[in-house]
Amino acid sequence: MKKFKRYLVTSALPYANGPLHIGHLAGAYIPSDIYTRYLRMRGEDVVSICGSDEHGVPITLKARNEGVTPKEIVDRYHSLNKKSFEDFGISFDIYSRTTNETHHKTASEFFQNLYNKGEFTEKFSEQYFDEEAGCFLADRYIMGTCPHCGNEGAYGDQCEKCGSSLNSSDLINPHSTVSGTTPVLRKTLHWYLPLDKYEDWLRKWILEDHKEWKANVYGQCKSWLDQGLQPRAVSRDLDWGVPVPLEKGKGKVLYVWFDAPIGYISATKELTPDWEKYWKDKDTKMVHFIGKDNIVFHCIIFPAMLKAEGSFILPENVPANEFLNLEGDKISTSRNYAVWIHEYLEDFPGKQDVLRYSLCASAPETKDNDFTWKEFQARNNNELVAILGNFVNRTLVLTNNYYKGQVPEPGEKNENDQNVLNEIARIRTNVETSLESFRFREGLKEAMNLARLGNKYLADAEPWIVIKTDPERVKTIMNIAVQITANLTIILEPFLPFSMEKLRGWINIDKRVWNDAGCHDLIKPGHIINKPGLLFEKISDEEIEKQMNKLLATKKKNEESGQKVVPAKDTISFDDFTKLDIRTATVLEAEKVPRTTKLLKLRIDTGLDTRTIVSGIAEYFEPKALIGKNISIVANLEPRKIRGIESQGMILMAEDKDGKLVLVTPAEKVNNGSVIK
Ligand code: MF3
Ligand code: ZN
Repeated sequence: MKKFKRYLVTSALPYANGPLHIGHLAGAYIPSDIYTRYLRMRGEDVVSICGSDEHGVPITLKARNEGVTPKEIVDRYHSLNKKSFEDFGISFDIYSRTTNETHHKTASEFFQNLYNKGEFTEKFSEQYFDEEAGCFLADRYIMGTCPHCGNEGAYGDQCEKCGSSLNSSDLINPHSTVSGTTPVLRKTLHWYLPLDKYEDWLRKWILEDHKEWKANVYGQCKSWLDQGLQPRAVSRDLDWGVPVPLEKGKGKVLYVWFDAPIGYISATKELTPDWEKYWKDKDTKMVHFIGKDNIVFHCIIFPAMLKAEGSFILPENVPANEFLNLEGDKISTSRNYAVWIHEYLEDFPGKQDVLRYSLCASAPETKDNDFTWKEFQARNNNELVAILGNFVNRTLVLTNNYYKGQVPEPGEKNENDQNVLNEIARIRTNVETSLESFRFREGLKEAMNLARLGNKYLADAEPWIVIKTDPERVKTIMNIAVQITANLTIILEPFLPFSMEKLRGWINIDKRVWNDAGCHDLIKPGHIINKPGLLFEKISDEEIEKQMNKLLATKKKNEESGQKVVPAKDTISFDDFTKLDIRTATVLEAEKVPRTTKLLKLRIDTGLDTRTIVSGIAEYFEPKALIGKNISIVANLEPRKIRGIESQGMILMAEDKDGKLVLVTPAEKVNNGSVIK
C-alpha cells in the first residue's frame, strides 16, 4: 500500500438553502469527521475542508419563494449550518463559503485557464426561455417529463426518480417553475467540457486503478461510463453565481457544479498559504466524503476538470454513502420531513454523541438505511448507557470508594488479566483496518467491543464481592479496569469526542495519541482520578414518542395540503373549448416501451382511425388489463415523438392526490369516436 505524506479530506459543501438534517450528518459529515479525527490522532498532516455551496438554482428559487435576495438566504443558512457543525463537533479546519472573494477569483481563474488552453467547446444552442419572466430556464427553473422513466416531475438538469442527468431540452412537456408557462426556445452561447474526450482515461483511472472503491460508488461510475459520456455545459444564463470571465460571456455565470468543487481548492487557499502542497503533491491523499447523489460530480466531472487543468492531484477515494430514510419515508427538506440537527439539540441538549453514535451505527454505508427513533433509543439505552456508561461508572465509582480515587498498584496478573489486556491492542488494530477502509459502522462496533470487554471483565471478576475476602486481588482488577477506561478515551475519541473529553476529565488525563492505545499502563499507580458524573442517561419512552408525534404531525399536515384541489385555471371562451376534439376510443393493443418504467405504447381505435398513443401510465396499469377498455382521448393534439415513437393524441386521466392515475371512461358503452362535449 502506498504511504502518503499528508491528507486532504473534503466533505460535500451543503447548499445554503436550508438547515442540516440527520441525512446530511449520516451521509458525509460524521464519516469524514471520524476519519479526520483518527488521522489527527495518528499525528498525520491532515486538513479537513468544507463550506457552504451558495450558488445554483436551489438558492435562487428559495429566495424567490420567500421574496428576499439570494444573499439573504445564504447568509442565514451559512451561519446556521456552520454553527450546527460546530455544535456537533464536526471538526473542519475551515468552513468557508462560495460567495467569498477568494472563491470567485479561484473559480474564475480555473475557468479562464481551461478556456485559454482550449479545453472547452463553445457553441450556440437553443435553450428554453420564459417569455413572461424574461429569463432563460436552467436546471431547477424548468420541469417536465423525464424521457427515460416518464417521471413528470423531472428537473432541467436531473431526474430524481431514475437518477438520469438531463439537459433541459430532453424534457417532454417542459414548463417554467418561475411562471408556470410553457417556455420557448432561444439561441444562447455556452461553454462545454467535452467529457467524451475523457471517457477512456476515466475508464482506466476508475474501473482499473480504483477497484477498491466502495461497490456502490464503483457501480455507479461504471454505469455512467457504460452509457457513454456527453459534453456538459459549464455555464448558465443566470445572474447568481461566479460570472463567466469572458467578454462574450457577459450576463452568464459558471454552472454551480463547476464552481462548487473548486470551492474545496479556494477553502484550502484560505486556510493556509501552503495550500499547494495539499493539492499538487502526489504524496497527498485526497478523499471526498459525499452522499450518493454527488457521485457523478466527484468521480467523473470534477476529476475531468482537474485533469484538464493538469497540475492538481485526483481523489484517492470517494467513500460515498447511500441515503438515510426516516421512519420508512424519504427525508425531504421541502416537505419539512426531517430531523433538523439544530432542533435535535434543543430537545436533547448535550446529547450530540448519542446522535453521532446512532447515525454511525446505522449509517447507510452500502445501501439506503432507515433511521427510527426507537432504534435511536435502543442504541442509547442498551449500548451507550448499559455497556459503555455502565463500565466506566463502575470503574470510577469503585476506584473512588476503595482507594479515594488513587489508582492502585496492580499485583500479579493471572492469565485472564493478561488476555484482557492483550485484547486492547487487537481491538485497536481492528478499528484501524475498518477506518482505513471507510467501514465506519464496523469500526464503531469494534471500538465498542473494548467497552464490552471491560464490562465483562468486571462482571466476571466481581471486585465488589472479592473486596471482602481478597482486597489485594481487587487492586489488580481495578488497575486493569482503569487501563481499559484510559484506552477507551483514545479508541472512542473519533466517534464520541464529547463523551471522551468528559471521561478524560474524570480520570484526569490529557488527550493521548492514537499509538498509545493498547498500552497496559497508560495510567500509573498513585495517579488521582476525579469524581465521575454520568456519561449517558436513559432516554424515556415519552421523549421518543414526542419525536415520533412530531413527524406524524408533519406527515398529516403534508397529506392535508396534498388534498387541496388544484387551483382553477383561467376562463376560456366557448370557441376555445370547441377546438378540443375529445372523443371516446377503445384500446386494441398495449405494451411497455422498452427501457422505461412509466411509458406504455397503445394502439387505439378512435372511430376515425387506429393510431398510436404513448402514455405515462405504466405504473398504474398492466398492459394486458387495458386491452378492450373504453377510454377518452384528445384526438387533435399535435403529434409528438416520445422515445422515438410518434404519439398521436392524449389519453384522458384523472390524477388522484397521491399521483395515482385512473382512466376517464364513458359511464356506458358508446361507439368509438363518440364526441365528448
Ligand atoms: N451542494 C451540493 C449538494 O448539496 C454538494 C456540492 S459538493 C461540491 O448536493 F463538491 F460541489 F462542493
Ligand atoms: Zn427519470
